[in-house]
Amino acid sequence: MTDSRFAEQYEGPLLEVTDVKTHFETDRGLVRSVDGVSFTLERGKTIGIVGESGCGKTVLSRSVMGLLPRRGLIREGSVKFEGHELVGLTPKEMRAFWGSQLSMIFQDPMTSLNPVMKIGKQITESIRQHLDVDKEFANDLAESLLTSVRIPEPRRRLGEYPHQLSGGMRQRVCIAVALAAGPKLLFADEPTTALDVTVQAQVLDLMAEQQRERFMAMVLITHDLGVVAGRADEIAVMYAGRIVEKAPTNALFRDLKMPYTQALLSSIPKLSHASHTRLATIPGRPPNLINPPKGCKFEPRCAYAQDRCKEEEPPLQPGASPGHEFRCWFPVGTPEGAQALEQNCADGLPAAVALTAASTVVI
Ligand SMILES: Nc1ncnc2c1ncn2[C@@H]1O[C@H](COP(=O)(O)OP(=O)(O)OP(=O)(O)O)[C@@H](O)[C@H]1O
Ligand code: SF4
Ligand SMILES: [Mg+2]
Repeated sequence: MTDSRFAEQYEGPLLEVTDVKTHFETDRGLVRSVDGVSFTLERGKTIGIVGESGCGKTVLSRSVMGLLPRRGLIREGSVKFEGHELVGLTPKEMRAFWGSQLSMIFQDPMTSLNPVMKIGKQITESIRQHLDVDKEFANDLAESLLTSVRIPEPRRRLGEYPHQLSGGMRQRVCIAVALAAGPKLLFADEPTTALDVTVQAQVLDLMAEQQRERFMAMVLITHDLGVVAGRADEIAVMYAGRIVEKAPTNALFRDLKMPYTQALLSSIPKLSHASHTRLATIPGRPPNLINPPKGCKFEPRCAYAQDRCKEEEPPLQPGASPGHEFRCWFPVGTPEGAQALEQNCADGLPAAVALTAASTVVI
């Protein structure tokens, strides 16, 4: 049943991503979608990858899964799964990893399910692709998977089509399909953004429960720092194709250093806000990934920015807690940072004034 290549227990990290660059050659120029990302993930742990639309979250997860369009693609760096190098493998070679080792849940359950195939068949096909079991066993396993993702009347649901289910139920089916072959690592790319808020929490809780039971590792991708706050062991904040801050979750919330992380945090909905209150958004737009700014990529929008930021890109540097790293010349919570913010506020720079006005945000 299990592929012999994966039978031995590998002692190192489950996933090691080192200096991954994924660029696309287009008519408009070279798009640097992912530009030198590194992280590791241990078995059973969750890393949250957070950032605004277009920062490279999906391209990063697809780079690890080997699910990228080939047109114009330039790939560099290393992705090791249990020590096996995945960069450079052909789609045929990657198939040994998909499903049984690495699996993925996408944002929109309607596009990831086949609309004209019954739910039961979609799950059993996924099971039988990876496990050498007969039809009856696959059917029983499909039913127990639907039960484990809390779908009522699972036997009846197996005979239904995706459009007969609600959005939340469809996403539960996607989770069942993704878990069918017992992967060691699950990528969940904005798995709940298409769902309403109460269903979102149920689906996220369900994923966390399945993850614990299966001792599965997870990469949870979202634009909302609030979604990963209580669910990830570690958080990596992405901006313009790079990780700009990474830390164990508690350390990040206690001692964040990047002005961008602070800005993302101030855009999380608070319980004290009325439901119709508009949230603070980060002023300005993310940079063009074809011609990004020369220095710090966040400089045009940063409340703390100084002349140095325009010229020199900050390297990743360690924070006070183990595993904390960030890229910033004038970090939040330091005398240099406070001075930079004060100066910009006195000069009336909009981002600084907006941030200072929103300083009731509890960090
Ligand atoms: N095949 C491609 N060719 C050219 N550019 C691409 C391609 N795929 C993605 N991009 C660009 O790469 C950048 C990162 O895209 P990506 O989809 O990873 O963002 P994201 O962080 O997942 O955003 P969202 O939150 O909206 O899903 C974007 O600027 C996007 O336009
Ligand atoms: S202070 Fe400078 S280096 Fe730090 S995030 Fe702002 S622009 Fe970038
Ligand atoms: Mg995306």
